[in-house]
Amino acid sequence: MPAATSFYETDKAVSEYLLFHYGRSEDILPTGRGPLEALDFPRRCAELALRHPLEKGRALDLGCAVGRSACELSAYFEQTTGIDFSHSLIEAANQLKEGATLSGEIVEEGDLTRPITLELPANTRPEKLSFQQGDAMNLPAELGTFDFVLMANLIDRLPDPGDCLAKIHQRLNSQGILAITSPYTWMEEYAPKSKWLGGFLRDGKPVRAYRSLQEILSPNFDEIEALDLPFLIREHCRKNQYSVAHATLWRKR
Ligand SMILES: C[S@@+](CC[C@H](N)C(=O)[O-])C[C@H]1O[C@@H](n2cnc3c(N)ncnc32)[C@H](O)[C@@H]1O
Repeated sequence: MPAATSFYETDKAVSEYLLFHYGRSEDILPTGRGPLEALDFPRRCAELALRHPLEKGRALDLGCAVGRSACELSAYFEQTTGIDFSHSLIEAANQLKEGATLSGEIVEEGDLTRPITLELPANTRPEKLSFQQGDAMNLPAELGTFDFVLMANLIDRLPDPGDCLAKIHQRLNSQGILAITSPYTWMEEYAPKSKWLGGFLRDGKPVRAYRSLQEILSPNFDEIEALDLPFLIREHCRKNQYSVAHATLWRKR
């Protein structure tokens, strides 16, 4: 397993993602100051399914981490599946789904931490939700097809995002919606530069990920919307990393 992928198996990754997904606003922005619109990113990702007419049969959250978007999707869809490559993240998602309250420590300042507890959002329908370990690069046909597929901040963590995106239409029903969000943070730890979708010059001309998505997806999808989704990753009680993911929605023909 590449070192970059194994990060998602560590306790550090589990606690960071538990806080990112289920942390309360008082935990993330304790002074009440800051970009409040960047809170609750996984909930806003799930709400991408509500922006356009759509059958609410099956939803897939690919690269679901600890599963908050999948929980939110379970409120709208008859059946929701969350898949992640990391066994540790899926284990935490399943514990929450089974009703456990998980505890964690968040950094206040330097070595000082404080305990927090995290639980499922109240609108979750656990009976309509399942989590499983799996590889977005190699999804089994038995997974079936979906009305909504969310790939939130996944593509720049895949070894070959273009290959995954070229095949993703196989997992969508006709008229289903694919929602991709990404800050397009391409890193060689995750994919060799030859597989990046943007962020480099080709024949002296800049290649941008948005244009690559259009080229890869246009044979099977119509683009329906593009919007910005800000999000915050907490470092300590007075420091958060602010990013703006680009969200694009695509309807399968
Ligand atoms: C940046 S995180 C985003 C997590 C979540 N979607 C979110 O928006 O908070 C990337 C996630 O993709 C998962 N991942 C990486 N490679 C994967 C693969 N090949 N198949 C499925 N999940 C993968 C990681 O384990 C991690 O949970």
